[in-house]
Amino acid sequence: MQGVFITIEGVEGSGKSTQLLRLSERLRRLYLPLVVSKEPGGTALGREVRRLLLEPHDCGEAWCPDAELLLFYADRAQHLEQVIRPSLAEGKVVLVDRFEDSTRAYQGASGVSDSALDRLGELVLRGLRPHLTILLDMDPEVSLLRVNSRNQALGPEFAETRFDGAELDFHRRVRKRFLAIAQAHPNRVALIPSRATADQVEAAIWLRVAPLLRNAGFSVDP
Ligand code: TYD
Repeated sequence: MQGVFITIEGVEGSGKSTQLLRLSERLRRLYLPLVVSKEPGGTALGREVRRLLLEPHDCGEAWCPDAELLLFYADRAQHLEQVIRPSLAEGKVVLVDRFEDSTRAYQGASGVSDSALDRLGELVLRGLRPHLTILLDMDPEVSLLRVNSRNQALGPEFAETRFDGAELDFHRRVRKRFLAIAQAHPNRVALIPSRATADQVEAAIWLRVAPLLRNAGFSVDP
């Protein structure tokens, strides 16, 4: 049996973590062979790259857009080699929090050209695409408020990640790029508005995931 590759995407605060947890718990209850991972940081080396990308630097310098792009792809290449490709070859369900669409949305919004994104994507992915991408869509004005109140509730020691502090304008461009990806790949991308309740969003996600798994030969009816 060939594995199933599912990714989950969205702007910060769109409810991605909650829904990823709910979906993975549901799949575990069905005893499906499951691998849950994330980018950046799905491998031990990737976690080092993640730290380089997202934690503040003592030197005060910032990555230029091309260097940042290459670091995200270094993390992805390692993740594909160590986790994603072998797990799919073993017939597992691979659920990944952020993947290439995040690069196209975020680094594209930072000014990286589409042709650079295309070339690097081709080099690293070698044609591998998720069978399904769940895109949780929300207005960044609302989602960033959720991120800020969540961070405040956690206390001052929970420094924001670098992108969380970025301008609302940037996040609006990110959302626009995600929506353009969904429009360009309607068969792969399930666009799910995430302002509904968590239960409603979970149900909408399951409506897309269940048939995919059934078609792949998994038993999804408890
Ligand atoms: P993370 O703490 O995982 O945020 P979230 O909970 O929102 O997923 O941080 C990942 C950050 O990295 C997030 O701001 C999006 C960004 N990112 C990119 O800019 N490009 C990429 O290719 C990926 C995978 C993530």
